[in-house]
Amino acid sequence: MKQQAKRNLATARPGRARPRANRPAAPPAAAPPASEVEARLQAVFNTAVEGIVTIDERGHIDSINPAAEAMFGWPQGELLGRNINSLMPEPYHSRHDGYLHQYRETGQRRVIGIGREVFGRRKDGTVFPIELSVGEFRVGGRRLFTGILRDITERRRLQSEVLHISEQAQQRIAQDLHDDLCQQLAGIEFMAQTLATRLHEARRPEAAAADEVAALVRSATEHTRNLSHGMSPLRPGPDSLATALEELAVRTARHFDVRVDFHCPEPVALHDLPVATHLFRVAQEAISNALRHGRARHVEVHVSRSPGEVRLLVRDHGKGIPASLPSSAGMGLRIMQYRAGIIGGHLSIQREPSGGTSVTCTVPVDVHPTPHPTHEGRSKVKGRTRPAHPARR
Ligand SMILES: Nc1ncnc2c1ncn2[C@@H]1O[C@H](COP(=O)(O)OP(=O)(O)OP(=O)(O)O)[C@@H](O)[C@H]1O
Ligand SMILES: [Mg+2]
Repeated sequence: MKQQAKRNLATARPGRARPRANRPAAPPAAAPPASEVEARLQAVFNTAVEGIVTIDERGHIDSINPAAEAMFGWPQGELLGRNINSLMPEPYHSRHDGYLHQYRETGQRRVIGIGREVFGRRKDGTVFPIELSVGEFRVGGRRLFTGILRDITERRRLQSEVLHISEQAQQRIAQDLHDDLCQQLAGIEFMAQTLATRLHEARRPEAAAADEVAALVRSATEHTRNLSHGMSPLRPGPDSLATALEELAVRTARHFDVRVDFHCPEPVALHDLPVATHLFRVAQEAISNALRHGRARHVEVHVSRSPGEVRLLVRDHGKGIPASLPSSAGMGLRIMQYRAGIIGGHLSIQREPSGGTSVTCTVPVDVHPTPHPTHEGRSKVKGRTRPAHPARR
């Protein structure tokens, strides 16, 4: 293995900095002998904490350092000559040869020159998140690609924990607003109404002011309730995502006077509330973008479940996302990407050839989910579809 790695590294030479014109040139340092440069590069390769892999044009592993072998749980040397897709889970495992072929034919890049968070697959089949950056170089007439890999399992775990804690805090505040403040406001409204009735009966001029107080308190109650729903849109339970998405579709259609179709042909049975909440927030942002930027008058929200995967699709029939985003673009797309990553999902955003934009988020889920303890015995959620009519109330 070392021989092979050496073969690839030996030809690379570190560039020497040119002296600046207005500075007296320092006497040229004697270049280390080629064998020493080679030994140094080999040492960097062997001792790097990050995984380093080079592949040829067909995707076969040409060299791999010990850190990458350890990261993927393969014995030393066993990966050499194998297809790099041995280190990828589906669907990338099946698609990668196609990506390389497409790049050879068209020069169209997917990861080359770009840093990305992707998933790796260990020898034992377990899947883990990695940060990958890919470069390309030519040596001895051959085109090779280098991948630098960092295992980001721990970073993802911490991010997910922080997000989980903040969602929990939001949920607590939302519950307090709903159960405590809303009840108090409802009590005040009742008292104001009683007072107004008595003042009306006594034909007192203050009756109108009492009516106004009751109306203001009613509106404050409504506002607080909406705030609480917005902070915690999902109630625990296997059907929480579908229910919240359907409500979102109805609300959006009503507020913006647009058509929003909701499709959920099968029960989603997603028991993980944080995962459901992230998916809901992705849909919320996608719909908001469709209306704000795409000027869409028709949006479809689809949620479906296949073995081991929940899939959310927000498809709008608006202008379509531009190929290059304006510099004024905000945070929404990045946050969507981040949310998908946190829940181990995959997000893709594309401009549809027939017009409009599709945002798809797929998330791996347990094939046999454990029933949620507080929802045992509840009847199964029926599949539901709001067919092609405006989701208005
Ligand atoms: N469905 C869409 N149709 C058309 N353009 C879109 C769509 N979604 C996103 N875009 C484009 O992508 C850009 C970035 O969207 P993003 O959600 O990241 O930011 P934003 O909506 O501008 O601000 P923020 O989400 O922070 O409020 C938008 O400014 C818009 O140009
Ligand atoms: Mg946005």
